[in-house]
Amino acid sequence: MKFFLDTADVEEIKKAVELGMCDGVTTNPSLIMKAGKDQKQVIKEICKIVDGSVSVEGIAETAEGMIKEAEEFSKWADNIVVKIPMTKEGLKAVRSLSKTGIKTNVTLVFSVSQALLAAKAGATYVSPFVGRLDDVSQDGMELIYAIMDIFMNYNFETEVIVASIRHPLHVVEAAHAGAHIATVPAAVLEKLWHHPLTDTGIEIFKEHHEKHKKTIK
Ligand code: E4P
Repeated sequence: MKFFLDTADVEEIKKAVELGMCDGVTTNPSLIMKAGKDQKQVIKEICKIVDGSVSVEGIAETAEGMIKEAEEFSKWADNIVVKIPMTKEGLKAVRSLSKTGIKTNVTLVFSVSQALLAAKAGATYVSPFVGRLDDVSQDGMELIYAIMDIFMNYNFETEVIVASIRHPLHVVEAAHAGAHIATVPAAVLEKLWHHPLTDTGIEIFKEHHEKHKKTIK
């Protein structure tokens, strides 16, 4: 299972790379706004740090516009993946881009049928948003299980990126479902390795080591 970092914050990405837990990065206009830097500048910076795909999102709404944006983005670095929204125009753009070799990540996916169409169009990645579904009282993880089932039935090459992750359980369940990738905010990555019993275990072992040293003197 690959871990992508869901951020445009260069410092967060550097820390995850150092930890060996950053197989790629996903960004969107909201994350770019949060980073407070020019999109092209920050994406180019991220592409140099990360040895894996870096998803970048435009704002075009027509297939023609999306293709134009994709051609521009893909000049920025070799590891650029272009995010395309899950619309009819988006599907047309994905189909056309898949023939040119530009990698695509179909985003804002909220149903199995959307994921199926994206795979049929030749998307490199598809990003179902689990957290935003949970927000409207629909079980986001159920969608992941269903998509994985269907993709396995037909051996689609499209990889599933579980997106809109809000907590560690989303990551664990994504792994249970066999999703290829989880794109994780830095705060969630931090919570993944932490366990209070590990901390108290270390404290107890240290204490016993000190006690033992004193006894054998
Ligand atoms: C990543 O590709 C998505 O844009 C991101 O995970 C969305 O997350 P959010 O629902 O927390 O904004």
